Amino acid sequence: MTPTDQDLCNRWKDEPAPLLPLLHAFHDRDEHLSDEALRGISDTLRIPLADLHGTVSFYHHFSRTPGGKRAPRVCDGPICKLNGCDELLDELEGATAMPCAGRCDEPVAVIQGDRYLVGTPGGALQESPTLQPAPNPGGAEECCFAHVRTSGRATLTGYLETGGYAALERAREMTHEEVLDVVDASGLAGRGGAGFPTARKWRAVREAEGGPKTIICNADEGEPGCFKDRVLMDHDPHAVLEGMAIAGHATGAERGFIYLRYEYPHTQVILEQAVEEAREVLGEFKVCVRRGAGAYICGEETSLLNSLEGKHPFPRNRPPYPVTHGFEDTPTAVNNVETLASVAPILAKGAEWYAGLGHGEHKGTKIISLSGDVMRPGNYEVPIGLPLTTLLNDWAGGQREGRSFQAVTMAGLSGGFLGAEDLDATLDEPCLRAKGSFLGAGGVMVFDDTRDIVEVARQAMSFFAHESCGKCFPCRIGTERISERLSGEAGPVEAGAWKDEIHAIGHVMSETSACGLGIAAPLITESLLEKFPEEVDAHLAKR
Ligand SMILES: Cc1cc2nc3c(=O)[nH]c(=O)nc-3n(C[C@H](O)[C@H](O)[C@H](O)COP(=O)(O)O)c2cc1C
Ligand code: SF4
Repeated sequence: MTPTDQDLCNRWKDEPAPLLPLLHAFHDRDEHLSDEALRGISDTLRIPLADLHGTVSFYHHFSRTPGGKRAPRVCDGPICKLNGCDELLDELEGATAMPCAGRCDEPVAVIQGDRYLVGTPGGALQESPTLQPAPNPGGAEECCFAHVRTSGRATLTGYLETGGYAALERAREMTHEEVLDVVDASGLAGRGGAGFPTARKWRAVREAEGGPKTIICNADEGEPGCFKDRVLMDHDPHAVLEGMAIAGHATGAERGFIYLRYEYPHTQVILEQAVEEAREVLGEFKVCVRRGAGAYICGEETSLLNSLEGKHPFPRNRPPYPVTHGFEDTPTAVNNVETLASVAPILAKGAEWYAGLGHGEHKGTKIISLSGDVMRPGNYEVPIGLPLTTLLNDWAGGQREGRSFQAVTMAGLSGGFLGAEDLDATLDEPCLRAKGSFLGAGGVMVFDDTRDIVEVARQAMSFFAHESCGKCFPCRIGTERISERLSGEAGPVEAGAWKDEIHAIGHVMSETSACGLGIAAPLITESLLEKFPEEVDAHLAKR
């Protein structure tokens, strides 16, 4: 029987972080959010209707028109652009574009309702095959991916059979201080982008006053070119839960949330099943899965917190930081999926083992989502410090016949471009920062010599303009102004003045933006101007 409005409201109103699941419940039932539904939700959760309208319209995927949920959404991320998403958009009736959907190693990604499809122009849409992660080509020892290809690992039985939850048991026999010391000695740092030392974050939560304390798994994975967290959650969900529970023990948190991006509907099912199965093992530590609704900025941790709390998902001003004033103003550790999935192996095998996986003085591993113009795109868990050329050529098979390397983006889009002169780079923060970039969440997109790199930069900046939350003007206006200049719609026509203006806007953005989006976005144009001056001049000469 179809649930009534009242049934839906009663189901969710007393649950933690109820707004998103309640909106999804109406959206799933009615295939859009009607005015009546919003009025009912506003009354139930006591959120002013005007605020609720503002919040709902912020997300890309909540439709306000009947049947809107069923309309196909076609990924127009940088790699799907190479694979013909624009043609596919024209072919599919009623289709709209969505930013990178985290499937860059497959044909063009399409979401229709809760179905995950892939397509190529001129062909029929197909169910996306849940690809098993590729075998480890480099032979280097893995941490997070060590069991990700083991069949059955996603079930509790399969997980227990392969040593799962033993690290949690061991952690619970240790004091929180001992757990923090192991994580500290391992050198584990955040894998979501900012690289903050994990043990320091957890210690700050442990020492913060107030409660209840919270662990949040950031599974928003909105950075174009990143699709590693999806693979970890799809194939090894209990590893993420075990990491969260160990984090709970170390910090004194008894509740956790997984904030999952909208674009991974099948992953929600896998995670919810894993949470259900693991209830007994997790004990006092309670985990809820909450699905976002499409907004890149919701991966920024304070925006994520506002989204979970049912507020407009603007990033918060800091300080105070989430470690003292996070979810509902309580001490909170927000950690990336990969960070959390690294924790149980570290506890099981020891800090020295993990630290020793890195090359030279670098500690640990990083999953790189590699896509674009290489023979074997996919996720690769690399020792930190691995030469970029080893990954591109030896592990991923290099370029297609007759093509040569032109550029890679780093940190998805946020780290800007590296060019041919940077092929001596190693995959670690000190080296990449010296080259004006950073490793971040580990998305590496490859562009060969046939690609128009100025056009890639234009698309990147228009992604940032689209996803800028608009809270602060340097980013809101700057991303638009740079996009207009890259597309030739506005700005000086004389090359020197054009470049000066791009630099000037980028400088203001990186110096004055309120969060990482506006600070990082100009790296795209700065690296374009620095590493591809001839391509830029040729582009300007054509205008
Ligand atoms: C615009 C923006 C988007 C972000 N998106 C993500 C994301 O999708 N997933 C993620 O884990 N971190 C993301 N981050 C980083 C988070 O703010 C935060 O640093 C991270 O979740 C902390 O976890 P970690 O220490 O384990 O990396 C983003 C940051 C910014 C500025
Ligand atoms: S930098 Fe951009 S995304 Fe971040 S708060 Fe400002 S407007 Fe929003």
